[in-house]
Amino acid sequence: MPDAFPHLDYKPKLPRRLDRGIGIVGAGGIVNYAHLPAYKRAGFKVVAITDKNREAADKTARDHGIPRVCATVEELLANREVEIVDIAVYPAAQAEIVAKAAAAGKHMLCQKPFADEYSKALRNVELAAKANVKIAVNQQMRWDAGIRCARLLIDQCWLGAPTYGSIQVHCNTNWSMWPWIYAGKRLEVMFHSIHYIDSLRYLLGEPASVFTSGSRAPGETTSAETKTLTIWEYESGLQVLIDVCHSTWTDDAYATFRLEGSEGVIKGTIGLMYNYPTGRPDTLEFMSNKNPGYWFAARLDSMWIPDAFVGPMASLMRAVEEDTEPETSGRDNLRTLQIVFAEYRSMAEKRAVRPREIVD
Ligand SMILES: NC(=O)c1ccc[n+]([C@@H]2O[C@H](COP(=O)([O-])OP(=O)(O)OC[C@H]3O[C@@H](n4cnc5c(N)ncnc54)[C@H](O)[C@@H]3O)[C@@H](O)[C@H]2O)c1
Repeated sequence: MPDAFPHLDYKPKLPRRLDRGIGIVGAGGIVNYAHLPAYKRAGFKVVAITDKNREAADKTARDHGIPRVCATVEELLANREVEIVDIAVYPAAQAEIVAKAAAAGKHMLCQKPFADEYSKALRNVELAAKANVKIAVNQQMRWDAGIRCARLLIDQCWLGAPTYGSIQVHCNTNWSMWPWIYAGKRLEVMFHSIHYIDSLRYLLGEPASVFTSGSRAPGETTSAETKTLTIWEYESGLQVLIDVCHSTWTDDAYATFRLEGSEGVIKGTIGLMYNYPTGRPDTLEFMSNKNPGYWFAARLDSMWIPDAFVGPMASLMRAVEEDTEPETSGRDNLRTLQIVFAEYRSMAEKRAVRPREIVD
């Protein structure tokens, strides 16, 4: 029976010690408009930064009051004050930095996608285990208010047995923020829907098989997919739909999620996707079949960017403190990546693919 007064304490749980030294690799967009504002709000201590582009590192250090700019990753890793390395570079460059950080005995927060090949992700996880360091992956949508509240409601029995889940996002994405993604061969699933994949796993568990159709709008110059329709099937009969289009030209863009179950319904909007990267707070409504027709609504006051970015770092710091696994650990992320690569195999082979088919 769901409690008449659901407990929606959705803000990230902070570690006891906030002052573990963070060293950042990569001074690009996401570090400037998401990581650093989030860490400032949480009270985390950033002690150093490096970037291949020295000017970018200098400017970020100036703008955010970071005391040290390192010329190389090696110099940053040699700094004893750095306990956690926060990596935010291009996915193809991440594995080499992970290997160096593991050898230096540093814990790591890696950006999503954790790797551009499944075998590299597996190797990262093995390296970290051998070096006895922790890896968390920055799948921060799990801490986005609407998603975290949905999970709290599920845990408090508002949904019953899940029967249907969907995330539908039709927006107009400005790819000039990421020319390197637009120039690549994999786009929508690898860089965007990976958040929905990770969040839906978090809410509903692991699908048995996935089917994805990927396409582009007329006139798009990328050779990758910018719109996808995906269906997940579960052994229980639960079905999931992920429907994403980044080239909507109309003025009625939308970003919604919906979960239906034997006992209730949860639905909401993903505020960030209405005006990236400024966004707006999520909305959330839910109803139990014990009180049909009575919809409850939560007023959510935090934003995906930057507030949700506290979550993965806080979870990593707590894992270090308590010697546990971070919530979005590298090992957990292997399951998210299996679905990502299963969806690409599905697009290529035009068939439903079991995520477990994706092995080394
Ligand atoms: N919501 C999210 O989680 C989210 C949003 C946007 C981007 N990202 C991810 O963050 C990462 C960075 O994206 P961005 O938008 O900041 O890109 P960006 O192009 O703005 O910045 C990347 C920075 O990394 C630096 N860099 C690249 N290789 C390096 C290396 N080997 N050593 C040191 N510095 C290096 C570049 O010089 C550049 O300054 C990507 O993996 C992307 O997928 C995540």
